[in-house]
Amino acid sequence: MNPMLNIAIRAAHRAGDFIERSLELCDTLDVTSKSHNDFVSDVDRHAEREIIDTLKKAYPEHAILAEESGLQEGNEYQWIIDPLDGTTNFLHGFPQFAVSIALMHKERLEVAVIYDPMRRETFTASRGGGAKLNDRKLRVTKRRSLEGALLGTGFPYSDFSYLDSYMKTLEALIPKTAGIRRPGSAALDLAYVAAGRIDGFWEFNLQPWDIAAGTLIIQEAGGIVTDFAGGENYLKSGNIIAGSPKVFHGILSTIKPLLPENLQR
Ligand code: IPD
Ligand code: CA
Ligand code: CA
Repeated sequence: MNPMLNIAIRAAHRAGDFIERSLELCDTLDVTSKSHNDFVSDVDRHAEREIIDTLKKAYPEHAILAEESGLQEGNEYQWIIDPLDGTTNFLHGFPQFAVSIALMHKERLEVAVIYDPMRRETFTASRGGGAKLNDRKLRVTKRRSLEGALLGTGFPYSDFSYLDSYMKTLEALIPKTAGIRRPGSAALDLAYVAAGRIDGFWEFNLQPWDIAAGTLIIQEAGGIVTDFAGGENYLKSGNIIAGSPKVFHGILSTIKPLLPENLQR
């Protein structure tokens, strides 16, 4: 196995095991709000430290971009870390959250891991090496259109400036599909696209640490990831469409005409 993926998995498991042990304390945690409805707890911070310690021990020169502690400069390798994706779920004891870690080298994603500590599911990928769930190879679904498709999404919850645009996309996709889910962890939603548990996914305004790992895992499972213009700007714009090829095209062609120009990126 790619040694960098091995280290990333070790880091994700250490953090995930800590998060799982902490779940029973979720009612008593000290929680602060970074902005409206955007919460952080000591569990997020401690999990992030565990991850960074593990990665830095193996690769002291690598740069880090982590949700809670920000950017640490380094060489041309950069780890992109969300220590706990789905904090709101975690704080309510709703068991859908994950650790997400990706490694980028010169703008290219190299390895990725998303770990769900509740189900002990480890989704991994390395560039050119395929995607896996634990030991099983992953493929996206073969669905041929939106008809019958199950999609995942994320609702706006903090910045409501694009709520109207989001609602238009939701309204257009509901009648064309078999159903829409909002599980509450973008990283796991993307992992589920790769695993063929959902056929596609779209969300506005995400952060690079929500989507970097999921992007590589989907691509290595045969799926497509773009921004709302069908381009590659999603890590910067945070606007993402992902899916198996035909379902991806169905989502893109449905929502793009509904969006104002400033969101078509
Ligand atoms: C959030 C989750 C959620 C998505 C939000 C993210 P966090 O991440 O991925 O599904 O809708 O936009 O911020 O804050 O729990 O790490
Ligand atoms: Ca997140
Ligand atoms: Ca987080």
